[in-house]
Amino acid sequence: MDTRFNDKSVVITGGTRGIGKGIAKVFLGHGANVTIVGRNSDDGEAAVAALSGYAATGSVSFAQGDMSLESDCVEIMEFASQHYGGIDILCANAGIFPEKALEAMTGADIDLMLAVNLKGTILSVKAALSYLKNSQNPRVIITSSITGPMTGFPGWSHYGASKAGQLGFMRSAAIELAKYKITVNAVLPGNILTEGLTDLGSEYLDGMRSSIPLGDLGTVEDIGYACAFLASPEARYITGHSLVVDGGQTLPESQAALDAIR
Ligand SMILES: NC(=O)c1ccc[n+]([C@@H]2O[C@H](COP(=O)([O-])OP(=O)(O)OC[C@H]3O[C@@H](n4cnc5c(N)ncnc54)[C@H](OP(=O)(O)O)[C@@H]3O)[C@@H](O)[C@H]2O)c1
Repeated sequence: MDTRFNDKSVVITGGTRGIGKGIAKVFLGHGANVTIVGRNSDDGEAAVAALSGYAATGSVSFAQGDMSLESDCVEIMEFASQHYGGIDILCANAGIFPEKALEAMTGADIDLMLAVNLKGTILSVKAALSYLKNSQNPRVIITSSITGPMTGFPGWSHYGASKAGQLGFMRSAAIELAKYKITVNAVLPGNILTEGLTDLGSEYLDGMRSSIPLGDLGTVEDIGYACAFLASPEARYITGHSLVVDGGQTLPESQAALDAIR
């Protein structure tokens, strides 16, 4: 049994489904105590029931809240700290991605996207700070995306802006928090097979697979393993960086490069 994160307290925002749930599974499997966060309590309780079986030595709890609200962020971190004796690792993962063409986009669409994805990331780090400062191996890991920092997709310009913004935040935060030995890094997932993506059907998924050199979509656990590495003692000297986990999706310089390997 791998208990690398034994006794560590990990908070995973957006841990009730999708990538966050995969991250939770990996940390639980390595012995951590995990607090998952989401707005929907039914989903949260269902995720706790589903994830409990993966706990090596620790346990999993659900904290209900909206990461775009400062008071909720504060309450969630208080809950996690009281429950598990502090916070060692924060995975700022909660995010939304409603599609909207630029010509139809309203100020409200932009406000919502930035409130959850960007402001929510900053607020959650800020709320966790006083606890992270007391940890021996404090870590912040942000779930960004290839969309925005590296690539673009019509209909997701406001999403791309929020995901690139997370990296701008990361770099300055990494410098500011270095004095507490808190590292701040990001994972940049490509196309990851979540419950939402599965609903799009096999034809759509096959089309996505064909654009990825490794020939398959990523799993939520693939992102969990990348987070576990960045949270490990071995990664103590890495800060302010991003780790792309995309099966090589961002590598081909043209369609011909993909055709050449098919
Ligand atoms: N899936 C991909 O291929 C992919 C690729 C690149 C990047 N990402 C990034 O990965 C992260 C997770 O995406 P996903 O695909 O796993 O999404 P998902 O399946 O829709 O899950 C999103 C999670 O975030 C929670 N959440 C959403 N808004 C929240 C808020 N305001 N406050 C608290 N929790 C909130 C959701 O719970 P509630 O709805 O109950 O709040 C849920 O637990 C996002 O940051 C996304 O940008 C995903």
